Amino acid sequence: MGKKILLEHDHVPGIQGYEVYRNCGGYASVEKAIKTMSAEAMVEEVKKSGLRGRGGAGFPTGMKWSFLAKPEGVPRYLVCNADESEPGTFKDRYLMSRIPHILVEGMITSSFALGVNTAFIYIRGEYFYIVRILENAIKEAYANGWLGKNILGSGYDLDLYVQVGAGAYICGEETALLESLEGKRGNPRIKPPFPAIAGLYGCPTVVNNVETIASVPYIINNGGDDYAKIGIGRSAGTKLISASGHINKPGVYEIEMGITVEDFIYSEEYCGGIKNGKKLKAVVAGGSSVPVLPADKIINLPSGEKRLMTYESLSEGGFAGGTMLGSGGFIVMDETTSIVENLFTFARFYHHESCGQCSPCREGTSWMEKILHKIMDGHGTLADIDLLWEIQSKIEGNTICPLGDAAAWPVASAIRHFRHEFEAYVTNPNAVNKVRHYENMNA
Ligand SMILES: Cc1cc2nc3c(=O)[nH]c(=O)nc-3n(C[C@H](O)[C@H](O)[C@H](O)COP(=O)(O)O)c2cc1C
Repeated sequence: MGKKILLEHDHVPGIQGYEVYRNCGGYASVEKAIKTMSAEAMVEEVKKSGLRGRGGAGFPTGMKWSFLAKPEGVPRYLVCNADESEPGTFKDRYLMSRIPHILVEGMITSSFALGVNTAFIYIRGEYFYIVRILENAIKEAYANGWLGKNILGSGYDLDLYVQVGAGAYICGEETALLESLEGKRGNPRIKPPFPAIAGLYGCPTVVNNVETIASVPYIINNGGDDYAKIGIGRSAGTKLISASGHINKPGVYEIEMGITVEDFIYSEEYCGGIKNGKKLKAVVAGGSSVPVLPADKIINLPSGEKRLMTYESLSEGGFAGGTMLGSGGFIVMDETTSIVENLFTFARFYHHESCGQCSPCREGTSWMEKILHKIMDGHGTLADIDLLWEIQSKIEGNTICPLGDAAAWPVASAIRHFRHEFEAYVTNPNAVNKVRHYENMNA
């Protein structure tokens, strides 16, 4: 069994409530931090730990924290990104609903390290039932003296609020999130300035993912060096993986980074193999926005090497032969899956979720959906496949935020690795019936 940091107490009855959480060692990191550590020492521990942001980009958390500007007389903010709208990713929802206090504890410890007195958890509207769970946990934390004025008699004050979004994928992008938190339409901002300099209400702000913040109590309790020993190389620690698709045991798993992708898919501890003994066709390893990886780039690699569940190993081979760990939304596709149909579903999502600010994304996502529909409808031509390729290449890197890239990468990788399937849709009249799927979705 791999090491568990976040889900260690997942199966303890009543862990959602304060008393049980506290009896399992909860809030020890707040005590340790406030009573024995300076803010600078805490940031150092997080740096040493090698923790990288779990929201998708994998940016080193300690480094992000050290960039936070500290001008005199200006408030600083910590914002937890609990928007989690990436198709295939559902680990933050799991963690918050099962062990809400681990996030509240992480918010308090992290806020103390950053010198923050007001912190927010921005959560997507569809997670309304988790809002109640979080608000209850926060209420319990206030009642027990972990939040509010003069925490543990230290003179340190902290207020923590939950802000509910309206269910837009773009509001997971950190600057769109800040706009939304300020009560405006969630359009991404041009960077720089980065939030660490000018974030919420123009003040220095750290935005971190739920899982990132929930990992901080362990680091403070056990030290950064201890955390860095878990995992492998620059992929330190554990990672929550949302496993779905054609596997026997879908769910949220906490893995020690460095296990092989093959083990993750086939071992009984995790996915338990492909359903009905079918063959593996492809994997989307990090949520819908990362390149799809065909089985021959995961298992039985020509080099004889094994693909590992790490940031580095998954991206080995660049975009031509690799993918990304992203937010850990691990979608497994068996041999019966239509890559074109799957891509169409993703393309439809990105078109719907584009905020419309940048022309390449607004127009490009619309065209990609239309062309894919045409291909699935049986009216596509070989030239449409080339057009699709060209459109995605014009979006990537040409937008204010990475939603454009997120829409382009699945298209590029699907054509790169599975062009023959697109061609089959164009040349094989039997593919026409696939359009029913689209019609059903619109019914
Ligand atoms: C379109 C889009 C959606 C995103 N959605 C999320 C999200 O739901 N949750 C999240 O933590 N990060 C999301 N991100 C990444 C955030 O912009 C940001 O990098 C992250 O919250 C930083 O936290 P971390 O350093 O702890 O990963 C998204 C990015 C983009 C471009």
